[in-house]
Amino acid sequence: MSIKPLNPDEIVKMKKACRLAAETLIYIEKYIKPGITTNEIDQLVHDFTLSKGATPAPLGYHGFPKSVCTSVNQVVCHGVPDSTLLKEGDIINVDVTPKIDGFYGDSSKTFMVGQVSDDARRLVEAAHEAMMKGIEAITPKGTTGDIGFAINKFVTRKGYTSVIEIGGHGIGRTFHDEPFVPSIGKKGKGDVLIPYHCITVEPMINEGTEKVKEFAIPSSNIKYYETSDGKLSAQFEHTVLVTETGYEILTLI
Ligand code: MF3
Ligand code: CO
Ligand code: CO
Repeated sequence: MSIKPLNPDEIVKMKKACRLAAETLIYIEKYIKPGITTNEIDQLVHDFTLSKGATPAPLGYHGFPKSVCTSVNQVVCHGVPDSTLLKEGDIINVDVTPKIDGFYGDSSKTFMVGQVSDDARRLVEAAHEAMMKGIEAITPKGTTGDIGFAINKFVTRKGYTSVIEIGGHGIGRTFHDEPFVPSIGKKGKGDVLIPYHCITVEPMINEGTEKVKEFAIPSSNIKYYETSDGKLSAQFEHTVLVTETGYEILTLI
């Protein structure tokens, strides 16, 4: 694996970036109401990030045109902010990645817009719990397969599906590094987790089929994804430090 374990000074910096990611999601939550556009969410996140002395890493990343990903309803991830108005009953994942002092903090949350259906609420709650199950499966000598196994076991028990192609990643001085952190896996398989590496755990879970459709983003190498059947998808993401005894969630205040 190409990423090196972080030294104590680097961990302090990583914690700062991750804390800012958490603060950004807390800041944006109060604006998530019917009638706001995803472009307005983008502008708010952009300005907030700069006001804290950080830069929004998505902006210009492989040509991505905005400062945040906003994935509404059937959009699985990498949704591009535009003039779409949020409406009562929507669900929206807001994925933020501030970069500060050379380090990236990556976190996302799916918000409910006004009153949502019981089905939507159950999916969102399950997505959060699926992420937590994945994080709790992190052990000092564990593997990425342990994480995927724990996530998908929970997801299938709830009657939902886990997206296979897209998942978590190593993170630190690089936005996306090894290892790939799957949402489906076998215990003991995949890459071994290394103390003082950071990874993200970010399962995308679907109401219906796990199949996704890929869409191009103009002038960008990043793709965005929707569910193949048009049903809902939800996601949460934390950046986590693997430690000698287990893990520490860094994007939690
Ligand atoms: N934040 C996303 C992730 O969790 C990556 C977004 S890349 C972008 O990995 F270019 F779409 F912003
Ligand atoms: Co990520
Ligand atoms: Co992210």
